[in-house]
Amino acid sequence: MRVLVAGAAGNTGKRIVRRLLERGHEVRALARKAEQLPELEDLGAEGCRVDLERDEDARIAGAVRGCEATIFAAGAGPGSGPARKETMDYGGAVKLMQAAGAEGAGRYVLLSSMGVVDPGGAVEEMQPYLIAKAKADVQLQASGLSYTIVRPGRLTDGAGTGRISAAPELARRGEISREDVAETLVECLEVENTRRRTFEILAGSTPIREALEGV
Ligand SMILES: NC(=O)c1ccc[n+]([C@@H]2O[C@H](COP(=O)([O-])OP(=O)(O)OC[C@H]3O[C@@H](n4cnc5c(N)ncnc54)[C@H](OP(=O)(O)O)[C@@H]3O)[C@@H](O)[C@H]2O)c1
Repeated sequence: MRVLVAGAAGNTGKRIVRRLLERGHEVRALARKAEQLPELEDLGAEGCRVDLERDEDARIAGAVRGCEATIFAAGAGPGSGPARKETMDYGGAVKLMQAAGAEGAGRYVLLSSMGVVDPGGAVEEMQPYLIAKAKADVQLQASGLSYTIVRPGRLTDGAGTGRISAAPELARRGEISREDVAETLVECLEVENTRRRTFEILAGSTPIREALEGV
């Protein structure tokens, strides 16, 4: 399958690109700066320079064209203020899901976050981020796309274990490695049960595929 990865140069995005390629998928790697593309192309992906906040809709549509699925792992990042949470974590996410719908790329896997169901319960500086992510989730659920929304806890750079806990609501907080998040997002493309599902994930003891078959 040809898969568009948004945020491909990011810490999780690169891991997603590698795993997709290992499994024999074709990957179009969307990154916002030209200098981020060579590393992704060296891995075997097709590089695609798009800024989801600044570029025209036509350019964003071109990025999706010919892909069957999208994995969205882009984000404004911890160093950015509330304005970019709105333009990237919400606005950028919506632009890409609208482009996917218009281009007939029906499968859409979104990397969301734990905490979006209750942004007011988070520390104040996290609230604009969680509100933006929550709005993007709602928009995707209403989009008509065949979506999966994955909400991890705090991301770490620890080793992957191949095992997670997954449920619509896990009723606890915690962390999970970016390796296991990447593996989960890629597996979602192959597990039918994840279509039109929204669920949380944390480090756990259930093999990823089994966990996804049970959400
Ligand atoms: N960190 C956590 O604990 C946590 C917890 C739960 C969920 N999440 C979610 O997981 C996502 C991935 O995390 P991560 O640590 O892998 O993030 P990351 O390393 O910051 O990667 C995000 C990528 O998005 C790209 N991006 C930013 N603005 C863009 C734009 N306008 N157009 C296109 N691409 C753009 C960034 O590009 P540049 O390199 O050019 O900035 C970066 O490559 C986060 O964004 C967040 O939504 C994070």
